[in-house]
Amino acid sequence: MKKENNNRMEMSRRGFLKAAALTSAAICVSPAWEKVQAAEKVMNGQTSAQDIPAGLAAVRTQRTLGSGSAAFTVSAMGFGCMGLNYHRSEHPDEQACIRLVHEAIDRGVTLFDTAESYGPFTNERLMGKALKGYIDKVNVTTKFGHKFVNGVQVRTEEDSSPANIRRVCENSLRSLGVESIALFYQHRSDPNTPIETVAETVAQLIKEGKVQHFGLCEVNADTIHRAHAICPITAIQSEYHLMHRTVEDSVLPLCRELGIGFVPYSPINRGFLGGLINEYTQFSPNDNRQTLPRFQPEAIRKNLRIVEVLNAFGRTRGYTPAQIALAWLMHKGDFIVPIPGTTKLSHLEENLRAADIVFTDNEMKELEAAVSAIPVMGSRYDALQESKVQR
Ligand SMILES: NC(=O)c1ccc[n+]([C@@H]2O[C@H](COP(=O)([O-])OP(=O)(O)OC[C@H]3O[C@@H](n4cnc5c(N)ncnc54)[C@H](OP(=O)(O)O)[C@@H]3O)[C@@H](O)[C@H]2O)c1
Repeated sequence: MKKENNNRMEMSRRGFLKAAALTSAAICVSPAWEKVQAAEKVMNGQTSAQDIPAGLAAVRTQRTLGSGSAAFTVSAMGFGCMGLNYHRSEHPDEQACIRLVHEAIDRGVTLFDTAESYGPFTNERLMGKALKGYIDKVNVTTKFGHKFVNGVQVRTEEDSSPANIRRVCENSLRSLGVESIALFYQHRSDPNTPIETVAETVAQLIKEGKVQHFGLCEVNADTIHRAHAICPITAIQSEYHLMHRTVEDSVLPLCRELGIGFVPYSPINRGFLGGLINEYTQFSPNDNRQTLPRFQPEAIRKNLRIVEVLNAFGRTRGYTPAQIALAWLMHKGDFIVPIPGTTKLSHLEENLRAADIVFTDNEMKELEAAVSAIPVMGSRYDALQESKVQR
């Protein structure tokens, strides 16, 4: 109870400070009255994309992942939650994470992405706390399919058996504090469970109202066809950014053809395309980047030439490398919704502003030609992780 009071006090203090800041901004900028009204709406949690004050870094447009009965409309850019407390070195304390998530909501983000395996379990619980009271306004997607024994992930095996999908579903519902999971992805394919069985199990969960939409990660075109025939897929979530474009061969064209959405994960290449990492960067032991071939010092040194291209391209136009990386992805199709992760308000603001960038076709070609001319050194995953992604 005391904790609840503290939370309420923190919320109202936060609301007051935000309203005061927005109101004073409104006094300086005309037309002032609309801004004051917008500030009040932000404070009361009634914002919609149109209500967000003009000067605030925000995502103001929406995109639809999937089609027909599988359609799912979300903010044009989402928020990857993994790095808030898993795999990305410095993690802010829980209250700071929650405040950042609330800032993202105030800036129009309605798609948050987590998974059972982030933490494991703790990232979903964090999002359950952060989204308490907001869940009718935003969506949190999560994932099943990794194998756990006594709470420890068995990295050599996957488990998409119906029993495990149902176990994860029940746990995720509880951890996230929702009645229904907005989008439930298979995290990695399971060689022991046919994709048809996975799709049938999720279709049944959708019928039961425990899940709203179905998704798959890192699968090939054959798997997408087979799964989609049984349970319409809303989104494929796979790695996609300027340094990893494999999905362009067959997955993206198929998504376009079948009306399936695409959610590029690690859209800034795990921070690399943001330009703040160099060969001397030390990753914490909890950070998986220290094990990835592409994040070894020699590979970083070589691959920084790509960041230099983004810098040169962006700086003549007033954009940062991270913004160029995100805007490029968003221009690849209106069925694409990237989910950059961050622990910092400044990066959130920087990233969301990428949603406003407009490139011409010639600019896209110029950027792609300049980046493609530089060979990428180091594979994205180690051999075990690479063996889990379908070709
Ligand atoms: N389906 C899958 O198998 C899978 C796999 C991996 C990830 N994901 C999802 O994708 C999400 C994002 O992936 P990710 O965290 O691997 O990669 P990412 O979004 O490409 O990069 C995140 C990293 O970039 C840094 N960053 C963010 N904005 C920046 C900016 N403007 N300038 C410089 N650095 C910036 C962040 O550090 P700061 O905190 O300092 O900003 C963080 O370390 C995850 O949260 C998760 O939801 C899914």
